[in-house]
Amino acid sequence: MEKFIVRGPCTLKGEVNISGAKNAAVAILPATLLVRGKCHLENVPDISDIRAYYEILESLGSKITYISKNEVIIDNSEINSAIVSYELTSKFRASYYLLGSLLGRFDKVQISLPGGCNLGARPIDQHIKAFEKLGATIEVKSGNVYATRTERLKGAPIFLDVVSVGATINAILSATLAEGITVIENVAKEPHVVDVANFLNSMGAKIKGAGTDSIKVTGVTSLEQVSSYSIIPDQIETGTFMVAAAVTKGDVLVKNCIPKHMEPITAKLIEAGATVEEFESSIRVSMNKRPSSFSIKTMPYPGFPTDMQPQMSILLCLCDGTGMIVESIWESRFLYTDELAKMGADISAHGTTAIIKGVDKLYGAPVKSHDLRAGAAMIIAGLVAEGDTEVTNIAHILRGYEDICQKFSGLGANIEYVVDDEVNTCD
Ligand code: EPU
Repeated sequence: MEKFIVRGPCTLKGEVNISGAKNAAVAILPATLLVRGKCHLENVPDISDIRAYYEILESLGSKITYISKNEVIIDNSEINSAIVSYELTSKFRASYYLLGSLLGRFDKVQISLPGGCNLGARPIDQHIKAFEKLGATIEVKSGNVYATRTERLKGAPIFLDVVSVGATINAILSATLAEGITVIENVAKEPHVVDVANFLNSMGAKIKGAGTDSIKVTGVTSLEQVSSYSIIPDQIETGTFMVAAAVTKGDVLVKNCIPKHMEPITAKLIEAGATVEEFESSIRVSMNKRPSSFSIKTMPYPGFPTDMQPQMSILLCLCDGTGMIVESIWESRFLYTDELAKMGADISAHGTTAIIKGVDKLYGAPVKSHDLRAGAAMIIAGLVAEGDTEVTNIAHILRGYEDICQKFSGLGANIEYVVDDEVNTCD
């Protein structure tokens, strides 16, 4: 069994480099399928979700040249299948992007219903609505999604009923090679949505408005190879290290990030009493006092990201007063609160609201990583807790954080990666 052992407390100090954005990369990899040629990608995070995507692409006929752990050339000149194996696609959420991209190239596509973190119901009705608006027929049966088209997809107006990252990106992917104009309204504005649009535009797509409420895609008949595209830095990994710096009353320079993307998190850290200095592509976070209490309501970008609320909760666990987190994106994102209670946190969650009364100290305990971001929160809690925290179920964490153990060690944390009781220091 894999686990992290975090020996606290510690004060994080130093510099950390942020990797490429997971949620951009998991859409850009399938987006490469739209071009019958090569795409050279840089700043691709080396995480298990990405390795799973490489496996899927290779199973379809992609030839991938691994230049370094963060740089690949994907050659999709000869894709010979649009049927993706259940074993490969059911493992993670972002496999749904294969529907939008493969529909640009094939008449019939089959993938399994996507898996991913258990955050409550994760419907794909808005993705299906977008494909159907463009003329595809979608059938969901026996755990699979079947998408078919009898002719080239046709551009159409699409109004999304909910602001969805995945449906927005899938609508863009399927509209890119459609005939005519698609206007997508009520779209997600997350930085990774903009990055996917920028990547597609670098291949010759005609996408305007990404980052605003309405996106216009003028369909093109083909796309061109990409000689070099660098994926944006990961907003949530950046936020995770910013919060960890504040929680441990440390002083950390978080490098290779985009400060503008961090505004909702920066604002809350300042409210909590941290000092945040922004530079062109780095952010320094330091803290030297007990956090003040604050409240959060998660919202689509530019609101406070749901993927940062578990990490931020650790500041509230130690705050002076009582804070509240209202989760408005996922119905079941508070499973981690029981784990924090084992560490001495005074935290209670009811439905989509958690109330957290600050305590003086957390204490190390065996805790479980319920999902990717909850797992990151457990590590942060372990960094500040007195004693040893053993975090299990860490496959979730490894899905989305590159070298997390090494990065925290580099900042002075005492953290070990243990597999089957064999200790691996993370230097
Ligand atoms: N929704 C629907 N119908 C749909 C799609 C979504 O009702 O067809 C609802 C969802 O149930 C949810 C809301 O819309 O209540 C937003 O869901 P969204 O589609 O935006 O989520 P997603 O695309 O499945 C991505 C990230 C998640 C992140 C959310 C919200 C990827 C691969 N995943 O998921 O990231 O929490 O957006 O920002 O991009 C993570 O990285 O840890 C993670 C879970």
